[in-house]
Amino acid sequence: MKIFLDTADVEVIREFKEMGLVDGITTNPTLIAKTGKKFEEVIRKICQVVEGPVNAEVTSLTAEGIVEEARKIRSWGEQTVIKIPMNREGLKAVWRLSEEGIPTTVTLLFSVPQAILAAKAGARYLCPFVGRLDDISSDGTAMLHDICMMLNQYPEWECEVMAASIRHPIHVVEAARAGVDVITIPPKVIDQMLKHPLTDRGIEQFLKDAKGCYV
Ligand code: E4P
Repeated sequence: MKIFLDTADVEVIREFKEMGLVDGITTNPTLIAKTGKKFEEVIRKICQVVEGPVNAEVTSLTAEGIVEEARKIRSWGEQTVIKIPMNREGLKAVWRLSEEGIPTTVTLLFSVPQAILAAKAGARYLCPFVGRLDDISSDGTAMLHDICMMLNQYPEWECEVMAASIRHPIHVVEAARAGVDVITIPPKVIDQMLKHPLTDRGIEQFLKDAKGCYV
């Protein structure tokens, strides 16, 4: 399973890269806005730091506009992947870009039917939002399992499932159980995954016991 970092913060990316935890990056307009910098500047910077896929989301509402935006984004870094919201115009753009060999992620997926259409249109990554579905009292994890099961039946659709909208470590465990190809995780959730009170207690005890016999 590949791990992408769900952030646009370059310093945070550098930090997690040192732990070997960054196979790629996902951003969205909200994450870009949080940096206080311009979209192009942020994506260019991230591309200098990360070799793997860097997801940059379009904001155009027409297929023509999306394709044009996609070509511009691709000039900022060859590892950029064009993140496109799920709708009619989005799928038209995904299809055209796939014909041009430009990789896309279809984002804001909340159902198996949507995932089927995105896969068929030629998306490289399918991006189901687990946490946002849980937020409205639906089962995000069940959706993830169903999408993975569905895709296993159709190996000719060469796309990867990228679990997104991850809010806590149990979402990560469930995504791994579902067998996703990629999970994009916010830095805060990776920090939560790192910690265990018994680890802290164990380190404290070992350091105490080491005094006097390790030097
Ligand atoms: C990543 O690609 C998504 O944009 C992100 O995971 C959404 O997460 P959120 O639902 O916590 O905003």
